[in-house]
Amino acid sequence: MGNNLLKGKRGIIFGALDESSIAWKTAEKAHEEGAKFVLTNAPIAMRMGALDKLAADTNSQIISADATSMEDLEKLISESVEILGGPLDFILHSIGMSPNVRKGKHYTDVNYDWFHKTLDVSAMSLHRVLQTAYKMDAMAEWGSIISLSFVASQRAFPGYNDMADAKSLMESITRNFGYQYGNSKNVRVNTISQSPTLTTAGKGVGGFDQFINFAEDISPLGNASAEQCADYTVMMFSDYTKMVTMQNLFHDGGFSFTGISEKVMTKYGM
Ligand SMILES: NC(=O)c1ccc[n+]([C@@H]2O[C@H](COP(=O)([O-])OP(=O)(O)OC[C@H]3O[C@@H](n4cnc5c(N)ncnc54)[C@H](O)[C@@H]3O)[C@@H](O)[C@H]2O)c1
Repeated sequence: MGNNLLKGKRGIIFGALDESSIAWKTAEKAHEEGAKFVLTNAPIAMRMGALDKLAADTNSQIISADATSMEDLEKLISESVEILGGPLDFILHSIGMSPNVRKGKHYTDVNYDWFHKTLDVSAMSLHRVLQTAYKMDAMAEWGSIISLSFVASQRAFPGYNDMADAKSLMESITRNFGYQYGNSKNVRVNTISQSPTLTTAGKGVGGFDQFINFAEDISPLGNASAEQCADYTVMMFSDYTKMVTMQNLFHDGGFSFTGISEKVMTKYGM
């Protein structure tokens, strides 16, 4: 049962791949809270067909778009405004992919064509989405745009590879475009820095299994789940967070501000 937090709001949700995706859970919660939205993902992800079930469950339409293609994004945004019957109140950018991570290239030996791809798909795509919406004037006043980050943008996590650089860039774009969008149209732009989460993208990161357990033991509240991330995102789309913009918001059970925990000390015999 929702609380109508997003009643009457319209949006676009990028990045629901399967039931474990953070975007999938966010779509379910946004629907529960009364929002109308368009679901989108890269054409290649459509082939899995899983999105059809989510679209049926949330009474939404699907428009495929490669987030690195300006043409696709223009089509997506203009068609979404038409389908939903007005300007957008929220966008979730939940997109990440690194060929270097996928192909097991070490950070000290990255392939630079792949590095370009990582930055384009995982970070510049946010700028592309923002720029397209901005130029088309597709966002409503006080709209809210969220993308998902990870603490490796600010601290070294060796297995995260060039995704760490992509997340730093994404957080920087959030500040700089957030300034512009706030000034011109009171649109908010923020990142949520989420705990390690068992999803397709998450599991691809080197040493993920060990890391997720370590983060669970360090964080005073434990790891935040995908469902809890969806709750936080919905709150950020709501009118209760109107004055929050240009921020990187930690949603990690306290991990980012904890040096060591008693649990870990016990494990090391301290
Ligand atoms: N899982 C974690 O541990 C974790 C932690 C913090 C942040 N995040 C971030 O959360 C976001 C969502 O990831 P997830 O964990 O739900 O995994 P996921 O694999 O379910 O989602 C990643 C999505 O990116 C999409 N994508 C890839 N290339 C694309 C392109 N060119 N155009 C459009 N879409 C494209 C994929 O199809 C997929 O739907 C990512 O930005 C990820 O970095 C994940």
